Amino acid sequence: MTVSLTIGRHSTRFPVIQGGMGVRVSGHRLAGHVAKAGGVGLVAAAGLALNSGLFNGKNYYKADREALLTELAKARAIAPDGVIGVNCMVAVSNYDEAIRASCEGGAQLIVSGAGLPLNLPGLTADYPDVALVPIVSSVKAAQLIARKWHKGFDRLPDAVVVEDPDTAGGHLGEKMEKIANGDYDQYATVRGVKKYFQDQWNLDIPVIAAGGIWDRADLQQALAQGADGVQMASRFVCTEECDAEDAFKQAYLQCKQEDIGLVMSPAGLPGRALVSNVAAVRQHDLDKNVRCPLNCLKKCAYKECQERFCIVTALDRAQRGDIETGLVFCGTNAWKSDHIGTVADIFEELFPQEERAAG
Ligand SMILES: Cc1cc2nc3c(=O)[nH]c(=O)nc-3n(C[C@H](O)[C@H](O)[C@H](O)COP(=O)(O)O)c2cc1C
Repeated sequence: MTVSLTIGRHSTRFPVIQGGMGVRVSGHRLAGHVAKAGGVGLVAAAGLALNSGLFNGKNYYKADREALLTELAKARAIAPDGVIGVNCMVAVSNYDEAIRASCEGGAQLIVSGAGLPLNLPGLTADYPDVALVPIVSSVKAAQLIARKWHKGFDRLPDAVVVEDPDTAGGHLGEKMEKIANGDYDQYATVRGVKKYFQDQWNLDIPVIAAGGIWDRADLQQALAQGADGVQMASRFVCTEECDAEDAFKQAYLQCKQEDIGLVMSPAGLPGRALVSNVAAVRQHDLDKNVRCPLNCLKKCAYKECQERFCIVTALDRAQRGDIETGLVFCGTNAWKSDHIGTVADIFEELFPQEERAAG
């Protein structure tokens, strides 16, 4: 099994990216320890201001920027030689600022989805060593990004993450009615993206499979099916290093397969989460008469007409351990969590010692 990954100028020992988990589920601890263990660690930029100690109720964007710089510096202190990047969602209002802060803060790569990151190379132009990795769910989206980047910026992606809407956690890049209807083929998409870059651009970039990768068998299957690496998120939640409160991890440990489902996010995208408390999430905002407090998303049905719930504060409550009225994002495999271990344990299981010794 191939046991390394090179994205742009950055190489890791193991072909694993820890998926960004917004609103401080993947902050500096998780990202730093994944990088230290030999994978790519990602700090998720979305909603970092909340629970940072820097937000005073009025300075969301400023606090968000400062929190991102702080998380990157702390992650780097954990893994001075590791590969550390930032996950930025295109849908957030302060996207441009988050990308600039990521570069300033020393991110080695930027992984970006929840919309098409069409202007990303323009924002990072002064930092040519920062590798750019879009997240897509179709070959068509990868083609669109490549054409636009090439024409506008003479740049192409350094890798592509192909995220499977049928299994991944968080916001999903597919219409609700098209999710889990049997039409989507994750590895056909992975191979399609790979072939597109080879045929069209004579470029052999890593294509990373995301969604539903849990154990060594899943990893081996992904590599056998043509992926160059995997992005795993839910699997890293039940670790000591994950930045969420213990109650968030306990929600993973206690959930059953049937508790995991789809919820329409006010961002206009479906999301995968624990769905049994969605009515309580909404009720919380009705009871407290919550108005859009942060303007965190470019487009949001809650901001515009109080439809559904305020997503960033719902995710923040869950991250802080209020799993009654907070929203717990998770992938379809989260129910498989059965203990809280360490990041190193997971890497040990994915890449056993004998294999490491064999090199
Ligand atoms: C709690 C949670 C939060 C997430 N937040 C983000 C995010 O902020 N940005 C993003 O691009 N993807 C986000 N995702 C998606 C993951 O990065 C990843 O691609 C996906 O969950 C992979 O599937 P898996 O969880 O089955 O491994 C999130 C997923 C989870 C479980």
